[in-house]
Amino acid sequence: MNNFDPRKFETPAARRLAGYHAKEPVAYAPGVLKMDLNEAGSPPSPRVVEALRAALTQDGLFNWYPDSACTELRAAIGRYVGVAPDHVLVTNGSNMALELIARAFLTKDDPALIVSPTYGVFAVQCELQGAKIVPFYFREVFQPDFSELFAAPTAKMIYLVNPNNPTGVGYRHEDVEAWLQRRPDSLLVLDEAYNEFYGVSGVDLIVRYPQLIVLRSFSKAFSLAGLRCGYVVAAPAVIEILERIAAPWAVSAFTQVAARAALDDLPHMRAMVAEVQRAGQRIVTGLTALGFEARNTCASFVLWKVRDPAAVTRALAARQVYVSNKDTVPQMKGWLRLSVGTLAQAEQFLKIINELQSALR
Ligand SMILES: Cc1ncc(COP(=O)(O)O)c(C=O)c1O
Repeated sequence: MNNFDPRKFETPAARRLAGYHAKEPVAYAPGVLKMDLNEAGSPPSPRVVEALRAALTQDGLFNWYPDSACTELRAAIGRYVGVAPDHVLVTNGSNMALELIARAFLTKDDPALIVSPTYGVFAVQCELQGAKIVPFYFREVFQPDFSELFAAPTAKMIYLVNPNNPTGVGYRHEDVEAWLQRRPDSLLVLDEAYNEFYGVSGVDLIVRYPQLIVLRSFSKAFSLAGLRCGYVVAAPAVIEILERIAAPWAVSAFTQVAARAALDDLPHMRAMVAEVQRAGQRIVTGLTALGFEARNTCASFVLWKVRDPAAVTRALAARQVYVSNKDTVPQMKGWLRLSVGTLAQAEQFLKIINELQSALR
C-alpha cells in the first residue's frame, strides 16, 4: 500500500462539509415504533405490491436500463398534479432533486436564503456548491408572519418547505404567491414533501411564476420511502436544465412501476392520510391528558415538549420507540418530533408513555 491520500484531492467545499448523517438503521420487528424519520407507518397500496410482483418476471426489467425519462410515470404525475408531462422531472427521491437544483443554479458565494428551522439537506447542498447560506427565522416559530420574510435580504435562491419540517407549520397559498410577486428574480424552491397531509400547493402558481420550483415525494403519503422516488414540478425551461445535468437512469425500473401503481390507487393514499390525521390528534390528546405539552401539525408528525429531550429519547429507545430529538435545533428547544402512523400505533405509543410517565417528567 502506498501513501496515497485522497484528502489532498478533495475540493475545499467537500473538505469543509460535515455531511448529512442519516441515522443508524433500525431493524424491523413487530412492536418497533419507528417515529424518527417521518416514514409512513403503514405499507403502500396492495396494487404496488401486485405491480412489483408482476414486474419481477417481466423480461428486460432487471437486465435492461430503465426508461431514463420515466415517460409513463411522468405522465401519471402530470395528471395527478394537473400539469403537462414537460413540467415534471422524476428523481431518485426528492433529495436527488435538491442536489440537481443546487448543482444547476448555485455556485460560489451565491446567496441562498433558507427559511429555518428546516430540513437539513438544503444546507448540505448549498455548502457543497460554496453558496452563501442566509438562514432566516420568523420571530414566532409557530406563527410565521410573512411580512418579516418580505424584509429579508435578496437571494438568488430561497428554500421554503410547506408544510415545514420540523415545525409542521403550513404556510398560506397567498403568502407564497405574495413572495413570488415580490421576488421575480429569485428562484423559489418550494418543498412539498408533506403536501398530501396539508392540501395547499403552489403547483398552480408555476404558470404565472416561472421562478418557482416545486418538489414532491412518494416517501410520505404514498409509503414508498424505501424505493426512493420524488419529483420536480416546474416550468419546462427549468425542467430542461435539471434534466441535462441529471445522471441517466437514476430512477430504477421497479421504482417507476411502484410509483405508477401508487398513483393508480389514490383512495388508498387518502385513507392513509386521514388515518394519520386522526392518529396525530389522538397522540396530542393523549399526551395533553397526561399533562404534557404537545402540538398537532399540518404534516405527518406531531411535536411533544419535554424537560429533558435526550433522556426521554433514550428511555423510549430502550422500549423500541424511536423519536427525533430537535432540542438543539434553533427555536425548537425541548421539542421531540414524532412521526405519526396508524391509530393502532398511536394507542401503542400512548400505552408505553403511560407506563413510563414518571420517568419522562
Ligand atoms: C422537507 C423534506 N424534504 C425532502 C425529504 C426527503 O424526501 P425523499 O425521501 O423524497 O428524498 C424529507 C424527508 O424527511 C423532508 O422532510
